[in-house]
Amino acid sequence: MAMCVGIWILLLALHIQAGNGQMVQMDPSKSGFVGSQVELRCIFINSNPPVKISQVTWQKFLNGTKQNVAIANPALGVSVLQPFKERVSFKQAAVRHRTPSLEDTTIVFSNLQLSDEAAYICEYTTFPAGNRENMVNLTVYARPMTRMTLTTPTIVARAQKRKMTVATCVSANGKPPSVIKWDTRLKGEATFQETRNQNGTVTVRSNYVVVPSRETHKQKLTCIVTYQHEKITDSVVLNVQYEPDVKIEGFDGNWYLNRLNVQLTCRADANPPVTIYQWKLLNGSLPSNVEIKNNTLFFKGPVTYDLAGTYVCDATNGIGTRTGIVDVNITEFPNNPVDEIQTEPHNPTAAIGGAVGGVALLAVAAILLFVFLRRRQRTFKGDYSTKKHVFGNGYSKAGGLPAHPPMPKNLQYPDDSDDEKKPAQIGGPGGFEAGEREFDAEAEDLKRPYFTVDEGESRDYDERTLAFQYDPEPEIADDMISQTDGSVISKKEWYV
Ligand SMILES: *[C@@H]1O[C@H](CO)[C@@H](O)[C@H](O)[C@H]1NC(C)=O
Ligand SMILES: *[C@@H]1O[C@H](CO)[C@@H](O)[C@H](O)[C@H]1NC(C)=O
Ligand SMILES: *[C@@H]1O[C@H](CO)[C@@H](O)[C@H](O)[C@H]1NC(C)=O
Ligand SMILES: *[C@@H]1O[C@H](CO)[C@@H](O)[C@H](O)[C@H]1NC(C)=O
Ligand SMILES: *[C@@H]1O[C@H](CO)[C@@H](O)[C@H](O)[C@H]1NC(C)=O
Ligand SMILES: *[C@@H]1O[C@H](CO)[C@@H](O)[C@H](O)[C@H]1NC(C)=O
Repeated sequence: MAMCVGIWILLLALHIQAGNGQMVQMDPSKSGFVGSQVELRCIFINSNPPVKISQVTWQKFLNGTKQNVAIANPALGVSVLQPFKERVSFKQAAVRHRTPSLEDTTIVFSNLQLSDEAAYICEYTTFPAGNRENMVNLTVYARPMTRMTLTTPTIVARAQKRKMTVATCVSANGKPPSVIKWDTRLKGEATFQETRNQNGTVTVRSNYVVVPSRETHKQKLTCIVTYQHEKITDSVVLNVQYEPDVKIEGFDGNWYLNRLNVQLTCRADANPPVTIYQWKLLNGSLPSNVEIKNNTLFFKGPVTYDLAGTYVCDATNGIGTRTGIVDVNITEFPNNPVDEIQTEPHNPTAAIGGAVGGVALLAVAAILLFVFLRRRQRTFKGDYSTKKHVFGNGYSKAGGLPAHPPMPKNLQYPDDSDDEKKPAQIGGPGGFEAGEREFDAEAEDLKRPYFTVDEGESRDYDERTLAFQYDPEPEIADDMISQTDGSVISKKEWYV
């Protein structure tokens, strides 16, 4: 207990003008915000023998100069001087009495101004002890005005990829100065600037600099201002305008003859949205059977070779025009990559399938040969063109067998719909729409297995000249009939 009291006295002594038992007790420092009010404490500790207080003077001490603020005299009363008259008063009513008691001369400072920041001295003039004084340092804070602004409501991404300030965060006229930080996933950098005002406040400004692009659109940018222990955050979402990013969808690399309902769609990512889509065919005009709706080209009717070409889509928005391009080529038959798996030698089921297929092929070949010979005896009139090709699955129709022959590994052949459609169509001419068709035999680089029947000379040959061949440049004779699925079969087969 005694120890505690001892420490208290020691601490007190630090802020007390020691004298012969008299002291002036004050807070070492005080602070307040502009416009607020503070109390500056001043208490005279009198001891035995008591001394007589003749006057108390409050002074502002700044830059080595003292300025009187208020005076209290036991005989003459109290006086608060200009320019403090309106804002400074003694706290204790007793001081304001005609015969004041001057032990507590604490003053109340209201509506603080930045210019009030100074040291304030409270001085007791006593008799017979003389002067006793102490000092308090008053600090005045100013809360900053914080705001965040976008450079412009909408930012335009230019092709030159120039850096620009997209947002600014300002904490104005703060004392002490604020600290600005940014929080965003946006790639960019911040610049910082501090401006010190005459009145001691500081304006802190930070710009966020990015290269505006499609990626920066809709990104959130948050400014975090720390003022003393307060955090003020403000966010903006960027609105970046950019020219269209265009691609053409719809060509799957599998546009084969007579395929139906193909279309190309021009997809554009753009801000603002695309207003105009324009389609062109490089080195030509768009096919006549094409219908344009919004951003889509619909090709009416079955695919023909006329559709091949380089299609260009120009998409335009308020910022600019960009182009998408697709090279469309037409194949005679569909691609079916699934079939490649069957020829994969490392796959045991495929190997078995291959073996079965091989046996089946022999059977098919035998049947085909048999049918062919029979039919030739009945229908051949001796005047056919020299070469004929029986395409693709011709053997399966002729023989009515579903098995596929083994093929060279890199061959592509029709999708499995072939096997489903053909038998139905063969059932009667009613299911048969495409009719006869002239083929531009030279146009296609056809990679298809087919059988060649050398009819013109077949009499001189052994009947087994029916051969399985791989020929990259087939010619399709007039007596072939195209199917709606893109394959062709020999007319003769129809009329068997
Ligand atoms: C204090 O003194 C400095 C130079 O010594 C001067 O720039 C400043 O204005 C003075 N402040 C006041 C409030 O007089
Ligand atoms: C008060 O301010 C004066 C100068 O204005 C300085 O010398 C002194 O150290 C300050 N005292 C405290 C307790 O801050
Ligand atoms: C300090 O000065 C700035 C710039 O002159 C002014 O905008 C601001 O209002 C002043 N602050 C106070 C609290 O007087
Ligand atoms: C397209 O036409 C232009 C001139 O009209 C020509 O220079 C260019 O080689 C052509 N391109 C193709 C792929 O035919
Ligand atoms: C074009 O697009 C608009 C909106 O996406 C849709 O309302 C309109 O039906 C489309 N027009 C055609 C012809 O498809
Ligand atoms: C068709 O175009 C694709 C790419 O679009 C290409 O890989 C393929 O070789 C082309 N085929 C022909 C026959 O030109």
